[in-house]
Amino acid sequence: MSFDLSVISNKKIILAVTGGIAAYKSAILVRRLKDFGFDVRVVMTKGAQAFITPLTFQALSGNPVHTELLDPEAEAGMGHIELARWADLVLVAPASCDTIAKFSAGLANDLLSTLYLATKAPVWIAPAMNQQMWAAKATQRNLNTLVEDGVHVIMPEAGSQACGDVGLGRMPEPEALAQQIMDYFHRAQRAIAEKFGMLAGKRVVVTAGPTREAIDPVRYISNHSTGKMGFAIAAACYAAGAKVTLLAGPVSLDTPNGVRRINVSSAIKMLDESMHQLEEGCDIFIATAAVADYRVAEVAEHKIKKAGDELNVSLVKNPDIVATIAQQTKRPFMVGFAAETRNVEEYAAGKLVAKKLDMIACNDVSRADIGFASDENAMTVFFADQYQLEKRDLEKASKQDIAQQLVEAIHDALHYEIEPV
Ligand code: C5P
Repeated sequence: MSFDLSVISNKKIILAVTGGIAAYKSAILVRRLKDFGFDVRVVMTKGAQAFITPLTFQALSGNPVHTELLDPEAEAGMGHIELARWADLVLVAPASCDTIAKFSAGLANDLLSTLYLATKAPVWIAPAMNQQMWAAKATQRNLNTLVEDGVHVIMPEAGSQACGDVGLGRMPEPEALAQQIMDYFHRAQRAIAEKFGMLAGKRVVVTAGPTREAIDPVRYISNHSTGKMGFAIAAACYAAGAKVTLLAGPVSLDTPNGVRRINVSSAIKMLDESMHQLEEGCDIFIATAAVADYRVAEVAEHKIKKAGDELNVSLVKNPDIVATIAQQTKRPFMVGFAAETRNVEEYAAGKLVAKKLDMIACNDVSRADIGFASDENAMTVFFADQYQLEKRDLEKASKQDIAQQLVEAIHDALHYEIEPV
């Protein structure tokens, strides 16, 4: 099975609807899948169209509905092979006896049967039929073949049927089906995270350290940031399977193993390099750098000579790197940092909104035992979940340990799994 690591809610589902009265439930199923954020394309067999119209599914899915195999116009849009490749999962719901028989025999005489043979994506079927047809030896034989072929069968439920019979054969409710698919993607994602690391396949850019703003060729303005937190985060991201680029201001730290380091000096250089990294491809941008808020308006070409009791240097505001990246149209998942001495959480939450971040990690630098030059840290992470702020406390620990906890928080936020407080 092929499986890419993008966010679950971007997954693409083909919902194939076949002929059966349960097809009416498939309309609601499209809605539920869309509620989870899946991109849904509907394929209908001839039989399905006797029960419900393609127009209904087109309106609900927001995508054209695919019905024909040998229609040149449809093939020119998205042909059966393209459709087969597009899908991350194919769900046949309801799956009729006829479709099950076709799949089991390997026929390829309509769009759905062809797509079934052509896709590498997992195929799920939700059989729905009269209880006698379900129990029929031929149906059970065909289903066994499909299970052996790797198809996941969602068992029908028992109950009263449209035909008046009572027994096994009802399609589960759309809510339950959509939830099962969501759970499946979560399980698959977790399995990959366990095997390869939480950020496997992700490209991460970390800014770290202070920036240095020149006054003249020998003097500069800077701050006390050591870059330790950023370097620890870069190392933790690499350990979690990410491809990491570290944009480091002037610090005296060794480059973490496996991390690509680019040294920069001023805020302007850090911004230029950040933009460049964005063009090269970046899924997660983590801004830990203590960027100087101001730079010298005009850097003197030559060393400024000592003269008089006062020297005035005019400063201008530096660009906000993290906020600038967050404004780009194809922006990565944005993580910022806030070091505050009071009202820590309030200011941090304000920054999250003002800078349009997805997550902010804040610490109280007034505490003598943590922060800047210390080897230990404690943080609170906020992340924006569309309408509300969610919060996670990272317990006081070494910066390495905090970095790992942060990686977990990023992983969870990417997959919408953080528990609200
Ligand atoms: O506004 P403040 O400096 O407190 O915000 C801190 C966050 O913004 C950090 O993530 C820091 O790396 C980022 N930042 C930035 N560019 C600036 C100032 C701050 O990327 N010019």
